[in-house]
Amino acid sequence: MAGQGEPSLTADGFERFSLSEKFEPELIDTWYEGLKAEFADLPADPYGDPELRRYRRHSSAVLLPWERRLHWVPKIDHPEYGEVAHYFQGGYNPEHQDEDRYFPAIAARAENNPLLERIVLFDFAQTWWGRQERSLPLHVGVHFIKLAVADGEGAAVSSPNFLHQDGEPFHFAHLVYKQNAVGGTNYVADVQCAGAQPADISPELLVATFDLEQPLDSYGIHDERVSHHVDPIRRGDEPCPGERAVILVDITPLVKAV
Ligand SMILES: [Fe+2]
Repeated sequence: MAGQGEPSLTADGFERFSLSEKFEPELIDTWYEGLKAEFADLPADPYGDPELRRYRRHSSAVLLPWERRLHWVPKIDHPEYGEVAHYFQGGYNPEHQDEDRYFPAIAARAENNPLLERIVLFDFAQTWWGRQERSLPLHVGVHFIKLAVADGEGAAVSSPNFLHQDGEPFHFAHLVYKQNAVGGTNYVADVQCAGAQPADISPELLVATFDLEQPLDSYGIHDERVSHHVDPIRRGDEPCPGERAVILVDITPLVKAV
């Protein structure tokens, strides 16, 4: 989507992509519905109040930059959730500061979905690294997240619910589907806006505001240069739940600790 005048990841720390226009139609036709089906039974976020109406799974993988393949990290058995995957953001998510979180893992059939691998490798192809980072594995976090309002007036809310940085050097969001959902507007702003609501910042600090509407509408963030936020969703007028489902991908270098 980055045409003339559009923000780019390299120049602006932010870029939008329409992967339905970039990927082979056959790849999408063959694998999209299977990926979408994974969002039908996402479990509630174990760290979120049920009132937040947030559902998610998470897996992580190791990517060897010189090989361009994903190696999924083995899961951990959990007495309540079955297989889980570890997630840690250090001090970056103020709602879960320095907290080890364990999310129900993404199913192996989804990890092996060629469209998912293509999405992650597309994201990787947008990133850049120093010589030392390129010579070591990269850590890739993959999150399936659904905001869903089954009925009534409530809102479904992302975490954290204000402009923030994530800590991972690069991260990407890919819409899987949005149905009968009002809201879900994305905001990208200057880093000094982290911690604020978009409505409370000076307009000149707002880099972009947009909605992801079509399947595989996407954006990428170079985290050190911008903050970001997504609005809660509410249910629309149709007689079905209001839902917004995304795949988030974060990419972080692994380091040799001596
Ligand atoms: Fe975020």
